[in-house]
Amino acid sequence: MAAVNLTIDGVQVQAQAGTSVLEAAKQAGIKIPTLCYLEEINEVGACRICLVEVQGARTLQASCVTPVAEGMVVRTNTPAVRHARKLNLELIMSNHPQECLSCPRSTNCELQQLAAELGITELRFAGEVSPYEPDLSSPSLVRDPRKCILCRRCVSVCEKVQQVNAIAPQERGFNTIVAPAFLDPLGSAACVNCGQCALVCPTAAIHEKDQTAQVWAALADPNKHVVVQTAPAVRVS
Ligand code: FES
Repeated sequence: MAAVNLTIDGVQVQAQAGTSVLEAAKQAGIKIPTLCYLEEINEVGACRICLVEVQGARTLQASCVTPVAEGMVVRTNTPAVRHARKLNLELIMSNHPQECLSCPRSTNCELQQLAAELGITELRFAGEVSPYEPDLSSPSLVRDPRKCILCRRCVSVCEKVQQVNAIAPQERGFNTIVAPAFLDPLGSAACVNCGQCALVCPTAAIHEKDQTAQVWAALADPNKHVVVQTAPAVRVS
């Protein structure tokens, strides 16, 4: 494949034709933040966090879905780029549940990490909240659409890697939801409980089931008695 010469942040870079600007920058040691991107699995340009300036383009470009071109001049860290990335992330967070203290992915959440990286210290926007409830039907996974940022990583890994196709985007607009067909519960879908979706989810929209689910069940049914098990003590000798 032909080599393409471009400039990224003043650095001369050579990349194979067809390479994305994001990957070309990575090869040159230039980091561009991403959220929805998963190399060769999910390259859909959904989150717009990886925006860059391309000389001659009228708008900022999503670097994960923009191929390199001969003579291209790219800037990855201008005030306009930083402002747009931060604003996009603020909008993504505007309907995200503020449950970090009780969230199983807290401190291991890409949304949380990116917010810190982009300097978001307050939530300026409060949007409409998701109408969908958590799905606790699976024996191994919790699907919580309220925390879904619609990055589609789970859909891509289920389809392209595992070839199961248990989940897909449903509905439209703000009501878009990643779910089994006909919005069936995950527990009755073709899911094989491999957990790959939870592994690639950047938030806790799909996560491994733990005793949090039992606590939710107890909260929903005041007559239900739930025994919450604790891990056995580990003796260190
Ligand atoms: Fe490029 Fe999401 S990482 S649009």
